[in-house]
Amino acid sequence: MKPAGLKTRIFLDGGDPDETKQAIDLLGFLDGQTTNPTLISKNPEIRKHLDRGARFNEKEILAFYLDVVKKISTMIPQGSVSVEVYADLSTPADRMLAQGKEMFGWIPNAHIKFPTSKEGLKAAEQAIKERLRVNMTLCFSQEQAAAVYGATRGAKKGEVFVSPFIGRLDDRGENGMDLIANILKMYGKGDGHVEVLTASVRTLDHLLCAIKLGSDIITAPFTILKEWGEKGLPMPKDDYVYDRGKLTAIPYQDIDLSKKWQEYDIFHDLTVKGMERFSADWNALIK
Ligand code: E4P
Repeated sequence: MKPAGLKTRIFLDGGDPDETKQAIDLLGFLDGQTTNPTLISKNPEIRKHLDRGARFNEKEILAFYLDVVKKISTMIPQGSVSVEVYADLSTPADRMLAQGKEMFGWIPNAHIKFPTSKEGLKAAEQAIKERLRVNMTLCFSQEQAAAVYGATRGAKKGEVFVSPFIGRLDDRGENGMDLIANILKMYGKGDGHVEVLTASVRTLDHLLCAIKLGSDIITAPFTILKEWGEKGLPMPKDDYVYDRGKLTAIPYQDIDLSKKWQEYDIFHDLTVKGMERFSADWNALIK
């Protein structure tokens, strides 16, 4: 059962419907799920297929993704399921948008994941005008989060998520949790139309700290949700302090949210690396 006082929605980060079922059984609730090309490529049925030396054609792999997403959606009909478009460094906005529109029709509770790159933001801006719900992924900076805010201005609350990837910042020695705190503080000056979805969660402490900070949503892998469930769904205490260890602090920037999204510095090398990795993992499945 959901702990009393927990306002943050808890999502599972994964590409296997069996895990969705297990997470619901274990926690007694689940508010949504995020998927991505890498997670789909790790689905046990896909792995079996690949281990036999087989590959998919593009139609087959998309049909598989659709099937996975439908199964997940049926288990959490009141929640949200994030479905990610294929986007490599040369995919233009119109091709991302076309995929997003198709995927949005797969299930009634989809959020479409576009990368927080120039083309991804262009696609999202148009997607919001066409009343799609979006989840802007691979966000690594406050400026990128400000650009998401600008590109989706006019959207209603619930239609836009931004996913800052904390684990990947930690991996290179920066305190990813600071980015969550900084974006929440910056959005506190805005109209509240973008919700912060803490992603790339690697530890139970990430989850507890994101709850403490007031992240709107957290997506965590099954292993972390399992650990949280087995410990009895603990909540951060009033005196909870996140230990950042040797990670370098990410300072808050005073950013004006009223600018056009194109005016922000949206480049981040980890966004580029992330797009390369997602597209490579997807392409590895295709013959
Ligand atoms: C979720 O939406 C993200 O794609 C996911 O949390 C990324 O996690 P990773 O950095 O562990 O790959």
